[in-house]
Amino acid sequence: MELAGRKIVLGITGGIAAYKACELARRLREQGAEVQAVMTASARQFVGAASLQALTGRPVFDDLWDARVPDGMAHIALSRDADAIVVAPASANFLAKLAHGLCDDLLSTLVLARRREQCQLLVAPAMNVEMWEQAATQRNVVQLLLDGVQVLGPAQGDQACGETGAGRMLEPDEIVADLIAAFQPKILRGRRVLITAGPTFEAIDPVRGITNRSSGKMGYALARAAHEAGAVVTLVSGPTGLAAPHGVARIDVDGAAQMHEQVLAQADTADVFIAVAAVADWRAAEPSTTKIKKQPGTQPAPLPLATNPDILASVAALPAPPLCVGFAAESERLVENARAKLAAKGVTMIIANQVEAALGADAVELVLVDASTTRTLPMAPKLKQARRIVAAIAQRLDTRMESTQ
Ligand SMILES: Cc1cc2nc3c(=O)[nH]c(=O)nc-3n(C[C@H](O)[C@H](O)[C@H](O)COP(=O)(O)O)c2cc1C
Repeated sequence: MELAGRKIVLGITGGIAAYKACELARRLREQGAEVQAVMTASARQFVGAASLQALTGRPVFDDLWDARVPDGMAHIALSRDADAIVVAPASANFLAKLAHGLCDDLLSTLVLARRREQCQLLVAPAMNVEMWEQAATQRNVVQLLLDGVQVLGPAQGDQACGETGAGRMLEPDEIVADLIAAFQPKILRGRRVLITAGPTFEAIDPVRGITNRSSGKMGYALARAAHEAGAVVTLVSGPTGLAAPHGVARIDVDGAAQMHEQVLAQADTADVFIAVAAVADWRAAEPSTTKIKKQPGTQPAPLPLATNPDILASVAALPAPPLCVGFAAESERLVENARAKLAAKGVTMIIANQVEAALGADAVELVLVDASTTRTLPMAPKLKQARRIVAAIAQRLDTRMESTQ
């Protein structure tokens, strides 16, 4: 319920993607938002008001002159207590009107009448690729960005008209993620954050390997929280079943050596490195290129192991390292082991958790340990914990900058 208590105006304009506005309304309500749908006249050609009314639980407005509003000013009444207006889909025509401050129907008038300091405006363009790439549309988008409007997407791909290219509306889940992010403080704006997540998989032969039960949930939650905070995020991920958080660049790897290589390639430009992946300590020294066959009546052959690189320690040892944060999954003596790891790896912060309770769980208790403090982050969903960790990192980055000035 990331949008509990939020009042959202969902504006729908005339494009094929209007059918996805129904799904969007539903997803917004699932997150606890109160949704007020407002349609343009063209939008009504694509989707029925009855569907949106049923999905939002409120009458739909589309008329500037609607007599249902007691003082007759729907554009003021509907915009005054809104926390955000999301226009999805936003037609080329609507973007043009917005960029020029035109207000000749209810939706465009209420957008212009919104209180800018309390009501964010997000638009999700959807149109044919030629319409999107047209100089006029691009000019309008630049103007909207300058005016502080958040332009979500559009995505590339196949279009309803049969053509291919930029102009597809983002999926409803992606728009919801962007809206949730819009309410988070931008404490990492402009920072580059590199994160590892998930288990590693060390091949023994083409079908078998050494791995562990890390789900990747904590690392993915951190990637999402850092992105929400305005950072440019790269996630180097071992094999998990999770989708990359919206807006995060993911590099997929299998073994620790591959993860190490990818991390070192990115570390020079990172401001922050967060090592969340459960990296296997050992790998098969000589993985077989063909499937190892069971020999009836014989003992299994021994499996010689080699030690994997210590990714966190090697990043911390770079000449100009990013701010480094490690995770310690421990079965016992959490703080003592975390403090030892902090010193051994030469990092800024260690986040310790009780491994048996944390692996695969959706909520977790954490202990944040740095050179001078030990702080418990009480049991909470991993995304909430990730936002707390991001806040702690942002604070240390600011202190770091002040001390170098
Ligand atoms: C079948 C059909 C599909 C359309 N699809 C889109 C579209 O996806 N994006 C867009 O910007 N305009 C599209 N248009 C054009 C708009 O509906 C038209 O520019 C209209 O004036 C937009 O009005 P509005 O911005 O007030 O909703 C489409 C028109 C038709 C007839």
